[in-house]
Parts: sequence; structure tokens; C-alpha cells
Amino acid sequence: MTSPDKDMLTIALPKGKLFQPAADRLARFGYTAEGLSENSRKLVIVNETKKIQFIITKPMDLPTYVEYGAADIGIIGKDVLLEESKDVYELLDMKFGLCRLMLAVPAALRREKLSDYAHLRVATKYPRVAEQFFLNNGIQMEIIKLNGSIELAPMVGLAEMIVDIVETGRTLKENHLLEVAHLHRATARFIANRVSFKMKFERIHQMVEELRTLQEEESQS
Ligand code: PRP
Repeated sequence: MTSPDKDMLTIALPKGKLFQPAADRLARFGYTAEGLSENSRKLVIVNETKKIQFIITKPMDLPTYVEYGAADIGIIGKDVLLEESKDVYELLDMKFGLCRLMLAVPAALRREKLSDYAHLRVATKYPRVAEQFFLNNGIQMEIIKLNGSIELAPMVGLAEMIVDIVETGRTLKENHLLEVAHLHRATARFIANRVSFKMKFERIHQMVEELRTLQEEESQS
């Protein structure tokens, strides 16, 4: 453990698109630390006065840190929670970072029905979510797990299709990919370790309430 201080609240933030909006929201209530940045070389960024510390993780690893209690709480996309299905409490839909998980294909390979794509190769960062989707739809596909730049796979013949997140749709458009099916809608979620939620209930509950209030204010303005 990085800190034996049981009064310290450890907050995990994911690298990537959700980092800044998540850090900004927490900072509104004083949950921040000097030098907190996505590109920080420091792995643990501490605010002694507030008794909080931040760790910045790869998005897919974040639920594991929270499940094991290495972080008490974290902010992460629902897409990652669906893929990782870890034993954590999901306390709040933070309503930002909206994106959708979808199945896409190069325009030239477009077919009529979903079943017409059976047995093709699908590249994705979300193999479990993809597998479940194909199972539910009764089609068998070959899934190829990648860790990023998924759109590259159909361009170079590694796979015919992709399952990936779409936010603005720009990446799909630039790579001439068409959406074939919608798997899930995802937003950022506030999660907590089950034991931490009991042991540090007051602090975690207060944070959730503050963030919920902010959300309500934002939705009214
Ligand atoms: C995600 C996703 C797409 C892109 C979609 O990648 O994998 O590539 O964002 O966003 P858009 O619809 O707004 O274009 P990310 O930037 O998280 O990095 P990655 O490719 O390394 O996974």
C-alpha cells in the first residue's frame, strides 16, 4: 500500500477523455492536489491538508484498483465497468462523457442484416461486451482483442469489423466506417470499494451528494 494512513481517501482517475472533466468536477469541491495532471510523472499525488490522494490509471485497470481497495473511490466510464464487471459499488451516474458502444464496418463491406456478418473478425477493446452482444443475437464472430486505435484494424485487414466507443462520430467518419448496431450507452460513473464505502462512509457520501447537487445545477442552467 502506498499510504498506511487510514484517514487518507484515495481517488482513482482514468487517463484519457474522462480525466479532465472528472478532475474539474472534483476540484469544484476542493478535492484536488498540487500537480494533479494527466501527464504527471508522480504516480500518487497527495493533498495532506485535505487527506486525499490521487492515483491515475489506465481506464481498463481502474475498476481493479477500486475492487481491491487500492483506491477507495474512482470515476470511470460505464463502458469499462461493463467490460470489467468488477465487484464495486456504482454510486452515481455523473452524466458526463456520454458515448455509445457500437459495431461498425467499412462502408464497402456493409451487408443487409446483422446475421449476414456472421463469422467475420471483430477488433475491439471490449471483448466481453462484444461476445455477449453476439451471443444475444445468435451470431458467432471471431473477436480480436486490441488495446487502442481500433479503427486501424479494418484498414489493414486485421479484422473486418470493430466494436468501439463513439463520442462525436469523427473517428468513424474519418475512417469511412458505418455503424451497424448499437450495443450500449455509456457515461462516467462514480464508484467505490465496498469496504471503503462503509469505513469512510461520511466522506464518500458527502462527495456523492456534492457531485449530485452540481449535476442538478448544471441540468437546470
Ligand atoms: C476512442 C475510441 C475512438 C474515439 C471515438 O479512442 O476508441 O477511437 O475515441 O471518439 P469520436 O467519436 O469523438 O471520434 P480514444 O481516444 O479513447 O483512444 P484509443 O483509440 O487509444 O482507444
